[in-house]
Amino acid sequence: MTDLLTDTADGITTLTLNRVAKKNSFTTAMYAAMADVLDQAQTDAAVRVLVIQGHETIFSAGNDIADFLQSPPTTLEAPVFRFMRAISSFTKPIVATVCGPAVGIGTTMLFHCDLVYAGDNAAFSMPFVNLGVCPEAASSLLAPLRMGYGRAAEALLLGEPFMAEAALEMGLISRIVPPTEANALAQRQAQKLAVKPMASLLATKRLMKQGQASLVAERMAEEGTLFGRMLAEPAAREAFSAFMEKRKPDFSAL
Ligand code: COA
Repeated sequence: MTDLLTDTADGITTLTLNRVAKKNSFTTAMYAAMADVLDQAQTDAAVRVLVIQGHETIFSAGNDIADFLQSPPTTLEAPVFRFMRAISSFTKPIVATVCGPAVGIGTTMLFHCDLVYAGDNAAFSMPFVNLGVCPEAASSLLAPLRMGYGRAAEALLLGEPFMAEAALEMGLISRIVPPTEANALAQRQAQKLAVKPMASLLATKRLMKQGQASLVAERMAEEGTLFGRMLAEPAAREAFSAFMEKRKPDFSAL
């Protein structure tokens, strides 16, 4: 698939989002392909590290809204939820680079990555309320934990974007670099990880995350059921139609 490029070399699988004309928004087919890449990387002993990267100008505009309207995820077996489960339960290190906008799942997937490097043009946002839906990828649990409740409330209730400096201060990302250098830095860091003892990496990641693992899985399922239901309700229909019609949504009667 050309919307998603994958390359495996020297123990590193690199997944590149490559749908720049549509701002790297995710279609159902992309979610299915990403879930497959993660499953493959998880089981292939030759893969030691996963890198996820976008373009210097855009990480991802989140769900492809037209695709979502056409084939909404109505069950937890939908590719979008398969992808979320695969990334949140991935046991090997994940390095990600984010330049430009990271909207919706473009931000929430980062809660499940280990080293995140951001370009100084990165803009993170989780505008679920503005779209008439609710948080996903366990972000309703992980955002307050990682960012503090006050900043999570601004990000999730108001849907306000935050920039790379704020993300660094909150600990969502590890470092800010010029966008032209982000992907190269991710590869260098992945190379360092790929030559470390695998059992130590796996144990360390597991130990850091085990306190949250079952809570994350439970929350993700709860959010997914609610998200699927809310997609069919008037607020989401109005928000998504407004996006397609390039106008502001009108929630005054909702
Ligand atoms: N789903 C489907 N198409 C999308 C998209 C999305 N989430 N985001 C962008 N696109 C498309 C636009 O419709 C446009 O297509 P066109 O050229 O055929 O008209 C193209 O990508 C370029 O988008 P545009 O909005 O013109 O780019 P921009 O640089 O001005 O803004 C964003 C970039 C990411 C800030 C803006 O596109 C945006 O806010 N997108 C929606 C994000 C969103 O609400 N995602 C859902 C999260 S659940």
